[in-house]
Amino acid sequence: EKDMQQLKERILRDGKCFEGGILKVDNFINHQMDPILMKSMAVEFVRRFASRDINKILTIEASGIAPAIMVGYLLELPVVFAKKKKPSTMENMLATKVFSFTKNNTYDVCVCKDYLQPGDKVLFIDDFLANGNAAKGVMDLVRQSGAELAGMGFLIEKAFQHGGDYLRAQGIHVESLAVIESLDGCRITLKD
Ligand code: G4P
Ligand code: NA
Ligand code: NA
Repeated sequence: EKDMQQLKERILRDGKCFEGGILKVDNFINHQMDPILMKSMAVEFVRRFASRDINKILTIEASGIAPAIMVGYLLELPVVFAKKKKPSTMENMLATKVFSFTKNNTYDVCVCKDYLQPGDKVLFIDDFLANGNAAKGVMDLVRQSGAELAGMGFLIEKAFQHGGDYLRAQGIHVESLAVIESLDGCRITLKD
């Protein structure tokens, strides 16, 4: 959409392609962060999820935290980040396993039951949607908790990895602010 033109221009200007369909955006999202752009993106999420009943924002550490807290700040809602390390004491924790294609390993994602409860209406926010494995893990945690998933918002969706197709086919309200059609030949092709 037109509103996210600045994000698309930034991706084309500062994004770097790597082998295996990886887009590095370390200049404004994953290492150095641009809070002005991050705020604009959060405003756009608020607009796109305005029709949804939400009482909590959920993300996964680490890179999801910045966009998630911006959205939580704007909506004045608490922000919960799922943790990637199992805590020493697992009592009162919900856990699921996620396979990472980029790292070729499986990791645990956990959240305390105190912060994800039946009756919660959760908006999940993250930086990237690729194969959607992290998102599937979140769906599992939300299901285990008895909470409801109100939607999932991503800064960047890599359409060629089809996680978005899966989530939308599940009936989830998915919003991605920039969609990458292809990184073939280390050329960034954006949707629109
Ligand atoms: P998936 O969850 O969509 O299936 O993807 P995958 O397992 O491949 O993603 C693992 C990690 O890599 C996630 O972050 C995800 O956000 C990130 N990621 C996936 N594709 C890209 C990409 O093209 N560029 C960048 N920069 N990141 C990508 P994470 O490892 O959990 O780490 P964190 O940065 O959130 O701590
Ligand atoms: Na991430
Ligand atoms: Na990441």
